[in-house]
Amino acid sequence: MRINDIIKAKRDGAILSTEEIDFIIDGCVSGEIPDYQLSALLMAIYFKGMNSRETADLTMAMVNSGETADLSGIQGLKVDKHSTGGVGDKTTLIVAPIAAACGVKVAKMSGRGLGHTGGTVDKLESIPGFRVELKKEEFVDIVNRVGLCVVGQSGNFAPADKKLYALRDVTATVESIPLIASSIMSKKIASGADRILLDVKVGSGSFMKTLEQARRLATVMVSIGESLSRRTLALITNMDVPLGNAIGNSLEVIEAVNTLKGSGPSDLTELCLALAANMLYIADKGTQSACLEMAKYALYNGAAFECLKKMVAAQGGDISYIEETDKFPNACYYRTVVATNSGYITRMDAESCGVASAILGAGRAKKEDKIDYAAGIVLENKTGAQIKRGEPLATLYAEREDVFDKAAEVFLNAVEIGPQPPESKGLILGRVE
Ligand code: URA
Repeated sequence: MRINDIIKAKRDGAILSTEEIDFIIDGCVSGEIPDYQLSALLMAIYFKGMNSRETADLTMAMVNSGETADLSGIQGLKVDKHSTGGVGDKTTLIVAPIAAACGVKVAKMSGRGLGHTGGTVDKLESIPGFRVELKKEEFVDIVNRVGLCVVGQSGNFAPADKKLYALRDVTATVESIPLIASSIMSKKIASGADRILLDVKVGSGSFMKTLEQARRLATVMVSIGESLSRRTLALITNMDVPLGNAIGNSLEVIEAVNTLKGSGPSDLTELCLALAANMLYIADKGTQSACLEMAKYALYNGAAFECLKKMVAAQGGDISYIEETDKFPNACYYRTVVATNSGYITRMDAESCGVASAILGAGRAKKEDKIDYAAGIVLENKTGAQIKRGEPLATLYAEREDVFDKAAEVFLNAVEIGPQPPESKGLILGRVE
């Protein structure tokens, strides 16, 4: 087999065999296939696509390129939840405790933030003492005792994906449905989940800009999961506007705690209940409506909040910060950004809000950058709100004063105010089973 022939075949629209896909992934991990040929192949896949068998084969080849987590020590079904990435997306901090409070095991490996999107691991690390690097035995023990544990991605899971993703990032080949679907699903499968709930974001703050693209991505991921005997369900949710009001690490932990105490923003609460209910549903806890009732009960009777506290304590975090969120240190500086004219907010571009938050210090441009936990944005008004000139749109927080001008400029460019209220799209735009 020669990689030149495989590139040519895909360029001309051929369907690759299982053996050819295994050959590519072996050569990718061993270094025998150089980056320029892998890049050419990625571009050919970007243009010609892959069918569902090729996509499932690519997923499995990437799973087999590294370690797979052995979570057999965990008693009960392990249900994972994955979001394709958004701004202000702190749902794991709320949904995982709700699911655990209802008897589902959540053994979760999460990522760090990069670019305009945040990462659950960074948010959790803003709690003093919280450890995201645990030995496997401790991880399994916490899941068995508490029902949930969230750690960073430490093992050598899907190394082929790591390499291909880095190449995609610099060759304009990220936005390919088979490549995104196999990348996400390979990591979910390698990390040991029995059932998988996907939150596929659509809108300005996400990879998928149209509902049709998001539905295709969701359908491909669900069929990969099913073909590999992992029951998978996807919700398609709106990411035109940041989720909730807080963007930034400790700011998002505070908002997650408020939501678990029953006083979170309505969009965040609605989405978390829907996600938790669907996790329960795929874990065979009952009908969709029974699962929603269970999720609401666990949220509003405080059981989910207790689960979060137990997890924070088990992972070394200081739970007094969760009990009393005023303990989180404030950023040294803040600036309020106000509306420059009167009317309705017709757009508040999620991606630009994420970029503004990263400029304030809440995110990273490069993997090795340090982040400021207290930095970020609290939105005072969002899309649809009627606002007068001079009224606050948001408060920006940072540890340095010199970042405000740029961040405020990016944030203000993200906002449009017009004479008519915008059409409301809703939050949950689809469901794929
Ligand atoms: N997240 C991933 O893990 N992979 C992709 O390709 C896109 C988003």
